[in-house]
Amino acid sequence: MSSAIKFDNVSLNFGGVQALSNVSFEIPKNSLFAIIGPNGAGKTSIFNCIGGIYKPTSGEIKVLDKNISNLKPDNIASLGIARTFQNIELFENMTALENILIGAHRHINYGTIAGFLYTKQARSEEEKARKIAEDIIDFLEIEEYRFSYILSLPYGIQKRIELARALAMKPKVILLDEPAAGMNNEETEDIARFILDIHEELGITVVLVDHDMNMVMDIASEVVVMDFGKKLFSGLPQEAVKNSDVIEAYLGVEEDR
Ligand SMILES: Nc1ncnc2c1ncn2[C@@H]1O[C@H](COP(=O)(O)OP(=O)(O)OP(=O)(O)O)[C@@H](O)[C@H]1O
Ligand SMILES: [Mg+2]
Repeated sequence: MSSAIKFDNVSLNFGGVQALSNVSFEIPKNSLFAIIGPNGAGKTSIFNCIGGIYKPTSGEIKVLDKNISNLKPDNIASLGIARTFQNIELFENMTALENILIGAHRHINYGTIAGFLYTKQARSEEEKARKIAEDIIDFLEIEEYRFSYILSLPYGIQKRIELARALAMKPKVILLDEPAAGMNNEETEDIARFILDIHEELGITVVLVDHDMNMVMDIASEVVVMDFGKKLFSGLPQEAVKNSDVIEAYLGVEEDR
């Protein structure tokens, strides 16, 4: 009853490519859970299946105890799921605040006509969205960038704004696809601290995808290790690094380089 996400024998094929083969795991509610594995292991495919962008070839996925096989991406998001993308997906010609407001608008409630006429109700709902956005801007310490256009901002800040937009949806579960990719050490430490705060202070279940074990070892309480679409390991991060299959998968990557 208490899982945030549950995969039961999920497979996903693209023509001849087996992106996921018979993958089963359970992400407990309120956990800080990591999915790791080398390039092409199937990590992003797992997120795309959870979000309903990909439909599994076989198997079943439950999100917050609900079978999502017949749900559209928007309905799945409404269950309380938000995500960030491996390649940042923001509206580049809009400001940081405008992007974050798009997330917050999921929570406001007025019809198109009321919005057009800008009725009292529409005004008060706008204020509500603005308050949600401003609270998250404070939380992620991005006050100084709120009126900056995305294109003008450094990469690490863009990643944080994407995180803010996801949080503005007030999710129960947040999926983060390589939140520290392309960041320097300082930016990585900042983002790790924010991820811990999102989990501890906001009480959100966090699912973190990464190909690098370091950050995951530091912050995750449980991990699934993927390789070539298969689950190699699930359990404690400290045990994962001692597991011979995991070591082999990662050494294989090093040797290829
Ligand atoms: N839309 C698609 N069409 C065809 N093949 C796909 C598609 N999406 C993913 N794949 C394939 O599925 C496999 C898993 O890809 P996925 O993106 O899930 O890996 P990943 O673990 O996220 O890798 P990375 O660390 O590089 O982001 C790869 O072989 C990939 O080429
Ligand atoms: Mg990926």
